[in-house]
Amino acid sequence: MKYKIAEMILNRYKELIEFWRSCEGLWVSDDDSYENLKIYFKRNPKSNFIVLHENKIIGTVKCSHDGRRGYIHHLGVKEEFRKQGIARELVEKCIECLRAQGINKFRVFVLDSNREALEFWEHMGFEEQIYDYRTFQKNVTT
Ligand SMILES: CC(C)(COP(=O)(O)OP(=O)(O)OC[C@H]1O[C@@H](n2cnc3c(N)ncnc32)[C@H](O)[C@@H]1OP(=O)(O)O)[C@@H](O)C(=O)NCCC(=O)NCCS
Repeated sequence: MKYKIAEMILNRYKELIEFWRSCEGLWVSDDDSYENLKIYFKRNPKSNFIVLHENKIIGTVKCSHDGRRGYIHHLGVKEEFRKQGIARELVEKCIECLRAQGINKFRVFVLDSNREALEFWEHMGFEEQIYDYRTFQKNVTT
């Protein structure tokens, strides 16, 4: 099966959102608006990838860092293309990209209910961290 990995671009926004919505277990929210993604790409250029097969998106990953840790988001592979090493290639690409920027700790957020992804990340050598804290958030748009 032939595929190519390319940089994620805003021109494909509609297709990206549709792809993310089609990937069960992938968390899509208002954080993924066109405007937010534009800011995200500006802050984290060249570290977000799509996988193309016959010019259609069959996989994605985004990664960013805050100077201390790298964060891997929106990892997804279309169902019929799974178990062929695509996600591993994407994760390795993210790690390589952020390591070149001095980052060597990586964090992933996985929904409790997403058993497959929990097992996937463990298989990929990520260790589950159980913390005794909660996170708080404030929305200041209004
Ligand atoms: C999780 C997901 C991205 C894996 O994609 P994939 O392309 O099938 O994964 P790969 O083929 O690259 O697998 C890489 C390795 O993980 C293993 N693996 C894949 N899925 C696995 C699973 N559900 N449980 C355990 N191991 C798994 C593979 O066997 C492979 O092992 P190896 O490299 O040692 O031989 C894909 O199932 C998916 O898109 N799920 C829905 C979206 C989602 O939940 N994303 C994660 C959000 S946190």
